[in-house]
Amino acid sequence: MQGAANRDPQQFPEPDRFDILRRNNRHVAFGYGVHHCLGAPLARIEGQIAFLALLRLPELRLENPAPEWQEGVSLRTPKSLPVRFRAS
Ligand code: HEM
Repeated sequence: MQGAANRDPQQFPEPDRFDILRRNNRHVAFGYGVHHCLGAPLARIEGQIAFLALLRLPELRLENPAPEWQEGVSLRTPKSLPVRFRAS
């Protein structure tokens, strides 16, 4: 269960805090071992581009700070994550 592994308090201090600068970040979001995600380097570059674009949006904030979560035993994913920002 990746969602649980990535929030293991013995591995990650304050596991529920989104800390983009987290050190010693041995997460398993891209799997592990022989089936480790082949697209991980591409996904990381895409993530950097997406986060930089999002952070440039003025007054960006969550529309709903407590979103609904999809049911499932493996991944923890919000059903949707609407945001609001000031149009420039
Ligand atoms: C944030 C984006 C992504 C996440 C979180 C993610 C996550 C994962 C995870 C957890 C696995 C392992 C599945 C398992 O153990 O059964 C995996 C495998 C894989 N991923 Fe990704 N992935 C992402 C993006 C991508 C992209 C962009 C590509 C291709 C362009 C890709 C291609 C693959 C392939 C081919 C495998 C199978 C590797 C194998 O079984 O040997 N992934 N991914």
